[in-house]
Amino acid sequence: MSLEPIKNIFKPDIVGGVVDSPHELLHVFDFPTDVLSEIQELVTAIITKGIGPAKAEINASKVNFINLLETLRKTKVIELERDPDLFTILEGILIKEISKVLDIRKFKGIEFPVNVRVVHPVAPDGYLLGANPTDLFHCDPWAGEPDDIINVLLYLYCSPKSSRVQFINVSPMHYKAIKEHKGSYRSIQHFLSELPLVNLSAKSGQVLVFNSFLPHATKRGIDDIRISIDFRLRKSDPYKTEDSKWLRKKIPWSKYWFLPTTDFSTYQEKYSYEIKTLRSLGDPKPIHLRRKA
Ligand SMILES: [Fe+2]
Repeated sequence: MSLEPIKNIFKPDIVGGVVDSPHELLHVFDFPTDVLSEIQELVTAIITKGIGPAKAEINASKVNFINLLETLRKTKVIELERDPDLFTILEGILIKEISKVLDIRKFKGIEFPVNVRVVHPVAPDGYLLGANPTDLFHCDPWAGEPDDIINVLLYLYCSPKSSRVQFINVSPMHYKAIKEHKGSYRSIQHFLSELPLVNLSAKSGQVLVFNSFLPHATKRGIDDIRISIDFRLRKSDPYKTEDSKWLRKKIPWSKYWFLPTTDFSTYQEKYSYEIKTLRSLGDPKPIHLRRKA
């Protein structure tokens, strides 16, 4: 099986310009600094609001991204409650910016809300003992994500001492085995650990777009945190799914929505758009599924 390069999901005049390709299944580019600052500010609000009253220090007034980092460095793990309106605004900014580089018409669905992650240098207690910790090399569909996805990751803060994502330098010879693997992340490590890595640096503002069958893993940092956003885009209709996967506990597919073609200022607007779009398609079943979620 030959590799399935992702070049065709980028705008043709962009590839070879601002986009680097350290591997055929991985493309890298930078967000402009003003956009990065805008997203950092919004994520500061998301974390400040979502981390809860237990972290009073973070809820102090005048929190900016820099002192948010200081506070987060003192934590070991954080739980984040996700404000739907702020995540709707964040989605809009990400789509707008990424559309400048990606040919967004190639996609029909997007994960909502996107994942905002604070990655600590040490994994949370017990995390590494599970079947599918992201510290092991993996492809998301192995854990139950749909197989028509593309992964997108944006480093909002990443220093030389932060955790970063590493990629396996997959050759066509190994691609078939990787794509066809069924089972836990752990059960394929013996095979993947023999393969070389992609040579890639990591820095704030960098965006990684990769084929979901390019194995990747968290490489823990030395003594600094990382803040990043990641989400998945779906090439197929996000409502063409099986009921059994829609609301399941692990990896529910209800997290995939239509890729919006318009801006929303509230979650309610986004939800109404979704229902309206589904109604226009005339099939009542997906409307029922979305309402259940
Ligand atoms: Fe992953």
